[in-house]
Amino acid sequence: MTYVIAGPCIDVLDKSCLEECPVDCIYEGDRKMYIHPDECVDCGACEPACPVEAIVEAPVAAGDALLHVADNARFFSEILPDRDTPLGAPGGASGLGRVGADTPLVAGDRVG
Ligand code: F3S
Ligand code: F3S
Repeated sequence: MTYVIAGPCIDVLDKSCLEECPVDCIYEGDRKMYIHPDECVDCGACEPACPVEAIVEAPVAAGDALLHVADNARFFSEILPDRDTPLGAPGGASGLGRVGADTPLVAGDRVG
C-alpha cells in the first residue's frame, strides 16, 4: 500500500496526476480515480500534480483520507456494480479504460 487518492478527487477528476505516473496505475472509476496498491511503485510523482491535494501517502493518511486507503484497494479487490468479477490487477489503466463504477464509499458519497 503506497499512495492513495482520497475524497477531494470526487466529482473533480482533474487528471493531472495521470500524466505523472510512470506505471499507469491510476484508474478511473465514475466519480473518482483510484491508485492500484500493488502496481504503484511509490514514486510520489503524482502527489504534487493534484490541484485539490487529493493524493496522500498511505502511511501518513489521517481523517477521511484514512478511509480511502482501504477503499482504493477495494476498488480492485471487490466486485463493483454491474460486474461479475473484481478488476484484480489489470496491469495498466489506459488499456482498461474508464471503469464507470465506484466503490460503495464513493458512490454513496459518505465522505468527501
Ligand atoms: Fe483526482 Fe487530483 Fe488526479 S482531482 S484525477 S487525484 S489530479
Ligand atoms: Fe503512480 Fe508514483 Fe503516484 S507510481 S500512482 S505516480 S506514487
